[in-house]
Amino acid sequence: MRKPIVAGNWKMNGTQESIVPLLDRVIAGVDTSVNAQVIVCSPYIYIPLIAGKIADTAVEFGSQNISEFESGAYTGEISAQMLKDFDCEYVIIGHSERRHVFGETDQNIADKYKKAQEHGIIPILCVGELLEEREADKTAEVVIRQIDAILSTSGVESLQNAIIAYEPVWAIGTGKTATPEQAEEVHKLIRETIAKQNGTIASSLRILYGGSVKPSNAAELFAMEDIDGGLIGGASLESEDFLAICKATN
Ligand code: 13P
Repeated sequence: MRKPIVAGNWKMNGTQESIVPLLDRVIAGVDTSVNAQVIVCSPYIYIPLIAGKIADTAVEFGSQNISEFESGAYTGEISAQMLKDFDCEYVIIGHSERRHVFGETDQNIADKYKKAQEHGIIPILCVGELLEEREADKTAEVVIRQIDAILSTSGVESLQNAIIAYEPVWAIGTGKTATPEQAEEVHKLIRETIAKQNGTIASSLRILYGGSVKPSNAAELFAMEDIDGGLIGGASLESEDFLAICKATN
């Protein structure tokens, strides 16, 4: 049995004024009625605040990005060591906004993934196709290429300590969700691709779906065989919606 995960990606939203009450409500709401592992991924600057509030609660936290470099003259970057300094356990890597707005390549992403794991931080690796790639029937090719970059840099064993999120780019922040069948098709493909190298790792790997997940569609997505929870953007900024999504894994 794979324990489901619901992770919130706050992206570049909020200030202390909104984040503190949001976090307080999430912490209070994640009680024994929630079966999922719950993670919030905040902007770097709020990590010390979150680390303090979350200690000894059922909620975990992660970062939204990391540097692929160890340390040194990389102005504006945040290292794995710095994240570990605040007990950060997870990091989103290869989010479509990092790939498509900031031009991160498959190799940058593979390097970040490797660096996070070297420091014991669990990567939440995002993969997913653009609308034009889906329309050109290239979804499988794109997703396999994104996974292959990780396999060739870190090997299949590295997936023992990682989470994958399938986020079709056309479904992110658009209100347009993949149908449960469309999502399941890609999740199954990801699991089968990994199973070719290691069946045990593939069957225990958590693969989350992300892209316009809401309380109204979460349960039907999470009911699919290879969907093990969600990576939530917009709806993670509303505690009621986020908690309802956490409960939809039950
Ligand atoms: P939305 O839930 O806002 O579509 O964002 C999904 C996402 O990008 C999570 O990483």
